[in-house]
This record gives sequence, C-alpha cells and structure tokens, in this order.
Amino acid sequence: MSSQLHLKSSFPLLYLAPMQGLIDAEMRDLLTRIGGFDSCVTEFVRITHTVHHRSTWLKHMPELNHGNLTQAGTPVILQLLGSDAENLARNAIKAVEIGAQQIDLNFGCPAPTVNQHAGGAILMREPKQIEHIVRTVRQALPAHITLSAKMRLGYEDKSPALDCARAIEEAGAQFLTVHARTKVEGYRPPAHWDWIARIKNHISIPVVANGDVFSLQDYQTIRDISTCDDVMLGRGAVQRPDLARQIAAYNNGKLIEPMQWEELGSWIKDFFNLCCNKVQANNKYPIARLKQWLSMLKLAYPQADDLFKAIRTSTTIEDINQILQVKLG
Ligand SMILES: Cc1cc2nc3c(=O)[nH]c(=O)nc-3n(C[C@H](O)[C@H](O)[C@H](O)COP(=O)(O)O)c2cc1C
Repeated sequence: MSSQLHLKSSFPLLYLAPMQGLIDAEMRDLLTRIGGFDSCVTEFVRITHTVHHRSTWLKHMPELNHGNLTQAGTPVILQLLGSDAENLARNAIKAVEIGAQQIDLNFGCPAPTVNQHAGGAILMREPKQIEHIVRTVRQALPAHITLSAKMRLGYEDKSPALDCARAIEEAGAQFLTVHARTKVEGYRPPAHWDWIARIKNHISIPVVANGDVFSLQDYQTIRDISTCDDVMLGRGAVQRPDLARQIAAYNNGKLIEPMQWEELGSWIKDFFNLCCNKVQANNKYPIARLKQWLSMLKLAYPQADDLFKAIRTSTTIEDINQILQVKLG
C-alpha cells in the first residue's frame, strides 16, 4: 500500500497497533495471516544519541528484508520513539536506506523510563517540540516516504490534544493515529472517542481512531462517535485474533461467524512454531510468548485458560509441543 493509495482510499482502513513486548514480528505474521488488516506498525524503536546499525533495524523489523511486508503481504510501518529531532531524522534516513517505506513517530508511550528522557507521551506537553520533531524528520525524508504520528490526548489532561494534532499536521505528517486517553489515564476505560471526533474536526489529514475496540460492535461505535473511517486495533486483536477478519467481512457487507476454538488451536500451534524458529531464540522466548498470549486469549476463550494451566509449569519446548499435540491435536 503506497502513501498515495492510503490518502486516496475511500475504503475504511484497519491497522494493527504497535505493542511493545506483545506484537512483535511473529505476532504480526500470525495476525496478518488470519486476515483483515491493511497495515501494521512495529513496536517502537527507541532513538537516543546513536544511529542504529542494520542489525538493530532488522531485529525490530525483519520485514525490511521482505519488501516491508509480512508473510501475508500486509505492509509494515516502522515506529520510532525519541525526543531529539535531529537524531530521529538521522535514524529515519538510515532506516529508509535499509528499506523502510513508512515511518511513524510515537508521542504516546507512557513508560516512565521513556518519559524521563523526554520521549513518548510527555512530549504532549510541548506541541512546539512535537512540531519541530515532525518537521525535522519530514524534511530529512525523501518525499515518497510516508510519515505519520501516533499520540494520546495529553499528559495530565486533554487540553493539549488539539494543539498537538495541529502541530503534527502543520509539520507535514500524512496521517495521525489517536489513542483516546491521556498518559495518566493509562489503559483505564473509557477511551474518549468523542475527543477523536474533535481532533478530526480540527485538522484535515486522515485520523485513525484507536482505543478499546474489542468487538465488531465497538468497531461500529468508535467509527460513529469518532467520525473516523480508519481504526487501529491493539489488545482486541490479540484477545480475538479474528476480530480484524470479522471487521473486514462486515465492511464487505458480510457477517461471519467468530473463530471457533478448533481453528484457533491450529493458529496457537503455528504461533509457537514461529517463536521456536525465531533466529537465536532460546528456550525461554517461545514459552514466555505462548504463556503471554494464552493469558490474553483466555479473556475471550475459556479453553485457553485450560491450556494455560496445562503448560504453566512446563519449561521445555519438547514438553509444550507434547501438551499442544494432546490438547489441540
Ligand atoms: C503492552 C503494550 C505495549 C504498547 N506498545 C506501544 C508501542 O510500542 N507504540 C505505541 O505507539 N503504542 C503502544 N501501545 C499502545 C497501543 O498501540 C494502543 O494505542 C493502546 O493499547 C490502545 O489500543 P487498544 O485499546 O486497541 O489496545 C502499547 C500498549 C500496550 C498495552
């Protein structure tokens, strides 16, 4: 999907959210194969005072070796996080040299270590600095590279939301994703979808609505309230791996049955295999990832809780493969 296609598209787009420690290349591969997504975003790559080497970019985004696409052919956007405009620009150029075609800037991360270094959501207190960062990166990048940004509604309160959105637009970003909460609201419900509508009214670049979409009903409601066409799914896509598929079918005029446990079982085995095959993966990585995913899946599938309990004390890949074979066939 080129930036031109993005901007001209009248069909609602569905994005898979960046999620540090949760949606890595393996999860992107799996969820985009299940289907429904138009695009996905990498976990943030933290930019401090150095320029990352090729190996670091590839570690965060192995899809750079495959034309920026997941195995299923879904485009991947590379997300950067930092506060030093010039060094963000140098790193963005380096990433483009390695093959990145779309760059997203993170102004929403609430992590204390990131905020202490003036990155992520804390920048929402300083619209001028946000504008400087976006403009510096935009001017450094070739014109055909899409630049977007992702923000929250503010840090303590929502008062900077409109100014930050305007700053991002004026500095030349091509679209903006809004996670409809302040930093201090963390992930506590509700997400303020009405604020996304206010932002959308205030600027003219496309706005992607994000926050608390866990069902097809939520998808319809966020679109109604935010007035946005485009939506980004995070935790909902991990808990219900077919949510994007249901939404895409709905946008094509069809209602499809939610994924049954039998089908999910085979995706769970695929995911575990993908994690086992990860270059240099040690025993711990695939086991931790599987347990993490099951603990989220169990919110939607009680069978995932049984499986979680069955593998909870297992420490070897062989043991887990045996249990998966018995439980999932
Ligand atoms: C574990 C976790 C990691 C996240 N990592 C990132 C990240 O790397 N970059 C980013 O812009 N947002 C990140 N987010 C925020 C999500 O992209 C998204 O905005 C938020 O979860 C709200 O959407 P949801 O309700 O659909 O999950 C993260 C959220 C969580 C829960």
